[in-house]
Amino acid sequence: MNLTLKIWRQKNADTKGKVVTYQVSDISEDMSFLEMMDVLNEQLINKGEEPVAFDHDCREGICGSCNLQINGEPHGPDRGVTTCQLHMRSFKDGDTIVIEPFRAKAFPVIKDLVVDRSSFDRIQQAGGYISVNTSGNTQDANSIPVDKESADMSFYAATCIGCGACVAACKNASAMLFTSAKVSQFALLPQGEVEADRRVLEMVEQMDKEGFGNCTNTGACEIECPKGISLENIARMNREYLKASVK
Ligand code: SF4
Ligand code: FES
Repeated sequence: MNLTLKIWRQKNADTKGKVVTYQVSDISEDMSFLEMMDVLNEQLINKGEEPVAFDHDCREGICGSCNLQINGEPHGPDRGVTTCQLHMRSFKDGDTIVIEPFRAKAFPVIKDLVVDRSSFDRIQQAGGYISVNTSGNTQDANSIPVDKESADMSFYAATCIGCGACVAACKNASAMLFTSAKVSQFALLPQGEVEADRRVLEMVEQMDKEGFGNCTNTGACEIECPKGISLENIARMNREYLKASVK
């Protein structure tokens, strides 16, 4: 395939960015989207030009770092995949592809397509954990009975990889799907009950402090989420928040 790429280039956080057009040729439909970006970067390096900065790590849908906005959609046109799992067979010879960073006030651009998602880390640090004594006296997890449905729902919530597609998809740049997944994975288990009130209050407070918008139930986050995190988690977080506030 021969493709035209329109890519957001931005030197650093303090300079203005712009869209630059590149051509790539002989792209195999079996390549992943990031391999296609590697081809472009080799081309740029061979010409003595600055390669395009983009984030990636595992390249197998686990780490959540490959956050590209492709033709206006976080992680591109396919459903249930991250950018690194997107294949070039989803595009046609002659296509023009627009590639931008995830856009949100709380995700400032560091360089080109790389954004700073440490706001997510701070939300997680505000309460997305349980306090357990790990000095050798830890209780065997299997000694605490958990019903199958709760265990499954907690597991599904825990599959959130913190990629930020939910924020990029939302017209309000809301982080409710991410935060609610992190709240839910603990709220559904007895181990998470002890700190449940403090957790939800502090995580939501941090989410607001970071400048994420509010949820208006458009559901774009759920559609674009590569892990299929359900809106039910947002409803659960709202219930947890109300319960904790009343107390
Ligand atoms: S909820 Fe989905 S889209 Fe949002 S950070 Fe988690 S995995 Fe990514
Ligand atoms: S590079 Fe890790 S999820 Fe894509």
